Amino acid sequence: MAATALQVETLGPATPRGAIPLPRPGSGAAARRLGVLPMPSLEWNETVARATAPLYERVKAVVPPVEWPFFAPYVMAINHLKKERNAVILAHNYQTPEIYNCVADFVGDSLQLAREATKTEADIIVQGGVHFMAETSKLLNPDKVVLIPDLRAGCSLASSITGADVRLLRERFPGVPVVTYVNTSAEVKAESDICCTSSNAVAVVESFGVDKVILIPDEFLARWVATQTSVKIIAWKGHCEVHERFTAEELRRYRDSDPGVQILAHPECPPDVIAEADFTGSTSAMIHFVKSKRPKKVVMVTECSMADNVQAETPGVEFVRPCNLCPHMKRITLPKILESLVYLREEVEIDPLIAERARRAVERMVQLKN
Ligand code: 13P
Ligand code: SF4
Repeated sequence: MAATALQVETLGPATPRGAIPLPRPGSGAAARRLGVLPMPSLEWNETVARATAPLYERVKAVVPPVEWPFFAPYVMAINHLKKERNAVILAHNYQTPEIYNCVADFVGDSLQLAREATKTEADIIVQGGVHFMAETSKLLNPDKVVLIPDLRAGCSLASSITGADVRLLRERFPGVPVVTYVNTSAEVKAESDICCTSSNAVAVVESFGVDKVILIPDEFLARWVATQTSVKIIAWKGHCEVHERFTAEELRRYRDSDPGVQILAHPECPPDVIAEADFTGSTSAMIHFVKSKRPKKVVMVTECSMADNVQAETPGVEFVRPCNLCPHMKRITLPKILESLVYLREEVEIDPLIAERARRAVERMVQLKN
């Protein structure tokens, strides 16, 4: 439902942001229990070329032939080790094409990855994504080994807010439900009533049946949600460092050069950018739009690996490529995924007291039917 007037109140960070430390390295418990494996050979030869040829077919539109001899030995070794370890790779839509198409067992947006994490029977989950996604998988699978191939794969939204900030918000707005975007630490989730992602934020906000909700930490997501509901939103001044860089002017230039172009924007974009778009939705909603509507020409106003991944599956659609890379997502590479499976690192471990409360917020979201 469209709101008659935008009702958003935005608050700023209460603690100095530099104070948020990197996540703790894993304790090495999984490696001690399950053992470290020998590093497989990474030679490029005829056998590797033949075995990986069908996988190269999937990415040949976006991976030049000269790069494949570098990727292929890793692809083969990772797919072999996944079987040996009974592991799965859950990869976000922003992962590079060789990860997304050649080693991932499941790909999707944040909500789909969280749902998949509740279903897997594997012993080990390797998260092709950023740290908050790995924490979400761990919250939903406390007894499984969850690995993040690079601990530094953070998120500017997750580091914009702390658990202490959420407690202060609760003091300031007593009784107002707290909805936290999944792009947050477990500590922040633990202070929340429920989580949301960009694909279910409106439904989650409306699920309380109240007229005011705190929706943090993405100010722009909150502003977009406020255009879709009559619930008053109290927001936080966190931004995605990738999406905040797009401008309405650049989108107008795309439109001027081809009035038929379809512009799809992620809700983490600034409001004036969203206003220029033909469609706004989560990463998977954007992919669905392209696959089902097959526009002649499309601009995906989001992290730029998405266009590569969708292009590999939708020949005939022309992609205009504003290329903003997420430096955190790009920390995950084939060599690091391989090391993760060999050495079982970095294992995601969450303080049990925080985990219990954070799990409730994530499970409430996953259980909502949307
Ligand atoms: P999605 O849930 O739409 O995949 O978004 C996650 C994200 O981090 C976007 O920047
Ligand atoms: Fe975080 Fe933005 Fe990267 Fe998504 S694209 S993980 S919101 S920094």
